[in-house]
Amino acid sequence: MINREHVSQAFDSYVSAYNADDPKIKLKIDHTCRVAALCEQIGSSAGLGNTDLTWLCGMLHDIGRFEQVRRYNTFVDARSVDHAQFGADLLFHEGLLERFCEDLSESERRILERSIRSHSAYRLGADLSGAEIMYCNVLRDADKIDIFRVNCDTPLE
Ligand SMILES: [Fe+2]
Repeated sequence: MINREHVSQAFDSYVSAYNADDPKIKLKIDHTCRVAALCEQIGSSAGLGNTDLTWLCGMLHDIGRFEQVRRYNTFVDARSVDHAQFGADLLFHEGLLERFCEDLSESERRILERSIRSHSAYRLGADLSGAEIMYCNVLRDADKIDIFRVNCDTPLE
């Protein structure tokens, strides 16, 4: 079960360790919340039953950005780390996921991990199941929609 209130509180608590006065951090906090809402909207219109899971994919998809910018002071993956893989490693290999939710089913964990790992990839891997592809596509579309907005609202530098 996904407890959204707990996830939102855990997200606020996680990002409070980073400097929200830094426009890069603030941008990613706002982006995350908008992408989560878009994921839910797109997932539901695409007929995905588990809208809590699509929302969670949005909430956690860029979790690696905060450590990326703290450690490297850049969002440029080529000059630092692949933020999608980095975030998924923090969540699924270093125990960060448990701060947000502890009782996901195996299939929910797999969908969440694969969606996060592939959200910025040029192409999805060939080994994904039909359901995994659906969730990955919802997240990738939601992310791109908000990136268009960010590119309009925020100076390129
Ligand atoms: Fe991302």
